[in-house]
Amino acid sequence: MKTYLVTGGAGFIGTNFVYYMLKRYKDIRLINVDALTYAGNMENLTDIKDDQRHIFVQADICDSEAIEKLFEKYDIDYVVNFAAESHVDRSITNPEIFVQTNVQGTLNLLNLAKKHWMVEDDVYKEGVKFLQVSTDEVYGSLQDTGYFTETTPLCPHSPYSASKTAADCFVQAYHDTYKLPVNITRCSNNYGPYQFPEKLIPLIINNTLHHKQLPVYGDGMNIRDWLYVEDHCKAIDMVINGGRIGEVYNVGGHNERPNIFIVKTIIAYIKENVDDSVSEALIQYVEDRKGHDRRYGIDPSKIKEDLGWYPETKFEDGICLTIQWYLDHKKWMEHITSGAYMEYYQAMYEKKAEDA
Ligand code: NAD
Ligand code: DAU
Repeated sequence: MKTYLVTGGAGFIGTNFVYYMLKRYKDIRLINVDALTYAGNMENLTDIKDDQRHIFVQADICDSEAIEKLFEKYDIDYVVNFAAESHVDRSITNPEIFVQTNVQGTLNLLNLAKKHWMVEDDVYKEGVKFLQVSTDEVYGSLQDTGYFTETTPLCPHSPYSASKTAADCFVQAYHDTYKLPVNITRCSNNYGPYQFPEKLIPLIINNTLHHKQLPVYGDGMNIRDWLYVEDHCKAIDMVINGGRIGEVYNVGGHNERPNIFIVKTIIAYIKENVDDSVSEALIQYVEDRKGHDRRYGIDPSKIKEDLGWYPETKFEDGICLTIQWYLDHKKWMEHITSGAYMEYYQAMYEKKAEDA
């Protein structure tokens, strides 16, 4: 049985990963460490609250003592580091916390993994691995043609992507200097269930349902390469279990769409299936994001050739599944927009303390 330390497992991708892994592997233990910032939501994990294979611990990845206790208590085979400040707009107004969590937090995890996994100089326990979940944003922005490959020079523009780049450099440095067994995955924009509604797709779904304005930055022609979150989770699983040590793997879906196309697709779906009265009149072009990267596009050839991974979900299917998920989970969304999701996890902890 393998034990995974999954950080950020109450956030969007982390939650999906936890569900994916519990479904895929019977014999597994997931230690899910999450600080429960505004982006962490215990309500995401209600379906597995009685699953003994999943152990949730509220802790900050920057807190060496708290994380060290987990390395001491559990025989950890893999660290999968999702925990991060993830929203570009927030990084523009408040960069400091991005350095703290994304850089300092990652460094802290690397130090603890090295300390607890090293058996002698440059030699580590059999089979252990540190997987850093990174982003295509570390490569910067593309013109109209070409794709990011693993050898594209790192050229981040936002404080968010700068912090993720710094973290990647530390992960690589711990491999190059101390031979720590690592992989880095760099993924394009994910979409799917449980995404916090500050991000484009859930924001537009929620606003359309409530007849609120739909803010489109700049001319709406910035391009993102959308990947269904379950395909991303599968890629991470494959890299943990088969990725060559020290390698970077790009993960993307050849699903490039301009933002305005995404917005119009969501409006059309809701108009056809839910509410005939919504229309494109809700779209409002607003001031552009500062330093807004124009285009991302991933070349996923390496992960396909090495591990056989490919994006299984077509955008046309994935976007319908996604919109339908938010329609089926209106309470989940309401708990976030009202702030009640915060109380939800507090109540859960109070109950745990009572039970203890
Ligand atoms: P998210 O914001 O939804 O979730 C982040 C989670 O990390 C939250 O649960 C939050 O509580 C937790 N967290 C934040 N600071 C923490 C800390 N100091 N200690 C412990 N936990 C902390 O983010 P996401 O979209 O799920 O992204 C997960 C990872 O994937 C991030 O590293 C992000 O950079 C990367 N990524 C995201 C995308 C995407 O499209 N969402 C694409 C590529 C890469
Ligand atoms: O590319 C991977 C990255 O994708 C991840 O590393 C980040 O963690 C994740 O947040 C995401 O970053 P983006 O900035 O691309 O995602 P966001 O949903 O914020 O924006 C998607 C695009 O939509 C982007 O071009 C900005 C635009 N946008 C966004 C919002 C929130 C709008 O036009 N209006 C909006 O209201």
